[in-house]
Amino acid sequence: MNIAVLVSGRGSNLQAIIDSIESGYLKARISVVISDIENAYALGRAKKHRIEAVFVDPEKYSSKDLYEKQVLAVLKKHNAELILLAGYMKILGKTLLSAYKNRILNIHPALLPAFPGLHAQKQAFEYGVKVAGCTVHFVDETLDCGAIILQRCVEVKEDDTDETLADRILEQEHKIYPEAVKLFVENRLRIEGRKVKILQS
Ligand code: GAR
Repeated sequence: MNIAVLVSGRGSNLQAIIDSIESGYLKARISVVISDIENAYALGRAKKHRIEAVFVDPEKYSSKDLYEKQVLAVLKKHNAELILLAGYMKILGKTLLSAYKNRILNIHPALLPAFPGLHAQKQAFEYGVKVAGCTVHFVDETLDCGAIILQRCVEVKEDDTDETLADRILEQEHKIYPEAVKLFVENRLRIEGRKVKILQS
């Protein structure tokens, strides 16, 4: 299966996907990495692994629709069958959502539906939760509210800061994202309303 990864920054989740492919855990290939930020560190990670890395400049397009049509052209050119959002900070519009319905996944650093949006780890820390975590979900037109595929908990420690907590959540993100992608690639996910059923292998 050809995967496209959309990024905006550091790309550690992209790296986790690359590593799980290179180790043989995930039987797929990344055909393209697309960034909306020109100097995103993630683009360098892609190039280092000889993966096509493309910057699509949002400033060049007068609307989200025109921007996404350009992204779509890049996706089609690389025969992408699944899109992974990995720290991609743009909210998706209709153009991409309808072209890839139920074929877009996202990783979010909170136990959704708690703490959607930006700085989720800090939101959770400041709220005073005792258990935080991360979620992989299908992307739909709602913000961070698509059907949930996998979640993992992280306990909040007495001496945590929002940063130490975010670091431990990130470790779990790097585990559950490849796991969820593997389930998708093996065609073991069934969306039933809000629920995602996982078929045994
Ligand atoms: C990750 O923590 C990811 O969960 C989060 O951005 C970070 C990207 O890190 N995504 C969101 O907050 C999306 N709402 P990375 O670039 O190192 O993968």
